[in-house]
Amino acid sequence: MNWDFKVTKNLESKIKKTDFDNLAFGKDFTDHMFIADYKDGSWTDCRIVPFEPIMMHPAAFVLHYAQSIFEGLKAELSPNNDILLFRPEENAERFYKSAERLAMPPIPKDLFLESIHKLIEIDYEWIPKGKANSSLYIRPFLFATDPVLGVRVGETFRYMVILGPVGSYYSAPVKVWIQDEFVRAFPGGTGEAKFAGNYAATLQPVLEAQKRGCAQILWTDGLTHSYFQEIGTMNIFFVIDNTILTPELNEGTILRGVTRKSLIVLAQEMGYKVEERKITVEEFIKAVEEHRVQDMFGAGTAAVVQPISGFVYKEKEYDLTNLDREISQKLKAKLEIIKKGEIEDTHNWMYKIELNKNSQSN
Ligand code: COI
Repeated sequence: MNWDFKVTKNLESKIKKTDFDNLAFGKDFTDHMFIADYKDGSWTDCRIVPFEPIMMHPAAFVLHYAQSIFEGLKAELSPNNDILLFRPEENAERFYKSAERLAMPPIPKDLFLESIHKLIEIDYEWIPKGKANSSLYIRPFLFATDPVLGVRVGETFRYMVILGPVGSYYSAPVKVWIQDEFVRAFPGGTGEAKFAGNYAATLQPVLEAQKRGCAQILWTDGLTHSYFQEIGTMNIFFVIDNTILTPELNEGTILRGVTRKSLIVLAQEMGYKVEERKITVEEFIKAVEEHRVQDMFGAGTAAVVQPISGFVYKEKEYDLTNLDREISQKLKAKLEIIKKGEIEDTHNWMYKIELNKNSQSN
């Protein structure tokens, strides 16, 4: 389908006021945003407009019942100044499935890709240049707008995309609290969807984690707390006895991470043994005590590959700062050169945005 986009340019860019040398995560936003509205059974009124606050009806369904999903992906510049996205079709697919799980009209995959493509064509100058660990973060999101307080499937929805230059998500290695009390996801729940409520529900447990000196929680299964799920902002990987381990995805409780999926492929190509399976807390603690753990790291779009420096389990602290980290460093380095277009794209993962001179902002 050919989507008709109306573009209204922002007359005054904020770019010169943005400190590209000190980028945080998610605090700076570009000059434009994309909006489409769902009415009478179809997506209409696709538009790119100046970035600004939006009006909401006080009874908008999303404000009361949290019917909202999102995605996260990044744009980088290649050495020849090509604009590159990493596997955006995977995000389009996951967004589609998240919408179905939350009873929202899915965004057609071509609209998802075109909305991002056209918005970046306008705000491409915001992609950080030559700065380590920096990129342009892309945040598509979809929410219910019906001004009705009854709990039921709605009729009106809004899809938006915003962009912002970002630095690292975590500025230091992360310590995690292995969960034996709170629960993020059960089979049959929403754990696999990129559903806003999954994140809101983890905030109070994360405050408890912080009291234990941990920045994040390593979630375990809700019924027995005996095997690992994910970290909430990242998927989890372990290296034990030269084998890379990550929890299997078969219960619908773990986000299907694009970084997770890509690292598995890269690790196998590098000759490492990778197992996706149920990993018990017990086997992990035993391996830590027997010094058989070589690496532990989180993986996600925002966080990329993030070393886990230690953990707390049942109020006992474990330090992992001495792990060799060889495997996670190699995987991270490989992933980064692929994303920046510094080596040949043998997997056909990269999506290139050619600049259409008519749509540039200057
Ligand atoms: C991402 O990695 O893009 C995410 O959506 C995680 C988010 C909590 C920042």
